[in-house]
Amino acid sequence: MNIKQDDIIELTIEKLVYSGSGFSHYNGQVVFVENAVPGDIVKAKVLRVNKNFIQAKVDEILTSSQYRVKPFCPLFNACGGCNLQNVDYDYLIEQKQIILKEFFSSKILKDFDDIEFKPFIKSDVTKEYRCKVQNAISETKVSKRLLCGYYKENTHDVVNIKYCPIQPRIIEQIINYIRENWKLGGYIEKKDKGLLKHVIIRYSSTSKKIILTFVINKDLEWFNKVENDIKSFSDEIIKSFPDVSGVLVNFNPKKTNKILGEKTELIAGEDFIFQKLYSNDGIEYNYKVSKNSFFQTNPFVAQKVFDAVKSLLKANSTILDAYGGVGTIGIFLNTLAKRITLVEECESAIIDAKTNFKLNGCKNYEVFLGNAKRIFKDFLKSRKKFDYAVIDPPRKGSDKESLDSLSKLANAIVYVSCNPATLMRDAKILNDFGFKLKTLQGADMFPYTHHIESIAYFEK
Ligand SMILES: C[S@@+](CC[C@H](N)C(=O)[O-])C[C@H]1O[C@@H](n2cnc3c(N)ncnc32)[C@H](O)[C@@H]1O
Repeated sequence: MNIKQDDIIELTIEKLVYSGSGFSHYNGQVVFVENAVPGDIVKAKVLRVNKNFIQAKVDEILTSSQYRVKPFCPLFNACGGCNLQNVDYDYLIEQKQIILKEFFSSKILKDFDDIEFKPFIKSDVTKEYRCKVQNAISETKVSKRLLCGYYKENTHDVVNIKYCPIQPRIIEQIINYIRENWKLGGYIEKKDKGLLKHVIIRYSSTSKKIILTFVINKDLEWFNKVENDIKSFSDEIIKSFPDVSGVLVNFNPKKTNKILGEKTELIAGEDFIFQKLYSNDGIEYNYKVSKNSFFQTNPFVAQKVFDAVKSLLKANSTILDAYGGVGTIGIFLNTLAKRITLVEECESAIIDAKTNFKLNGCKNYEVFLGNAKRIFKDFLKSRKKFDYAVIDPPRKGSDKESLDSLSKLANAIVYVSCNPATLMRDAKILNDFGFKLKTLQGADMFPYTHHIESIAYFEK
């Protein structure tokens, strides 16, 4: 039978796949089903028929899975952020472990056998964990009310979010204040008109301080026209929310998918926060994080991930902390380090890292600003050697040249990844360079979403 768009088909959901969709078969064809939970028997509407698979969406649940639960967010269907809130948490962790194992199955990857899969790191905190929030802004057509929230999945339609259970309550209160009191207009993407494009809030779960950035659809030269208005609005926010320790304006006049433009001005207070992390052996680490520096969104799980990294390393080692940000991991490993060498391309992160090394009593450290690929080559030329390279690249992963250099610079590599697909690609490259994947551990950095963080340990 030829299946076509909009057909309704009956399916039994077998498992979850990495995208968060349910997996099923229909007459021998693979079907990926949105909003499905393993164990469900559903009627699903066909969205698209591709060459090798069908995409569908649950239309009616005939028999509900024992693992299906009621989402705790009222906007679960509209928002698309936490796409797996309808799955029992413990079962979801089991599924994430299976997905991770499938990525690295020796059936798919030749030479990838004997990997030890360590227990998946769960999140003790599944609500109010998100310490960086970026809300898109728009405006209603007639009444010109401000809309603040996330884009509906696969669209640029702003879902107006007044309550989001995964962000701390204070963030929501500030966003609601902005929604009610901002008088300078919101950006309408279709017309490329209007002022306020995004609001970005960074929150420290330990100091409780907040820095707030307004991203506007204008450049710095134009800014004096609204400068006083935005300044007095910022003063009002600080008065109403004394934990707001800084307000900034970012200028992004281009029609682009990038949230931030190049320039940012501090207009009130300071442009950094301090965030503490705690290791499982009771050590407290404190990090300065400036406006442009990366910091982990979920500090509660980040510290568990770094404990897992620490457990893989021997004491008195030379450690390369590559893609090191503000020194987060390197400093966490300080008690094991004979020397820490940090490599990072973001200037403000490097400045923060220097402060953080001192702040945390690290003595033997060095920092290198620039592209990792180039710096690794310089290290090779100067015959640098490390016991361990700990690498934590962005979602797109590392690259062949960098991994080639790393395989010559270090005896073992710990790879912290937020994307199993690029980790798998890079693991194959490292394997070709003589590094074997020994252990793999997943972590739930973004509970109730499909995301999987992992810690991979490679030895020469
Ligand atoms: C996922 S973050 C990890 C930061 C840090 N390890 C942490 O846990 O907070 C990745 C970092 O790599 C940096 N980065 C991205 N591409 C880079 C490159 N090619 N060379 C050096 N640093 C890079 C980013 O600026 C960012 O700070």
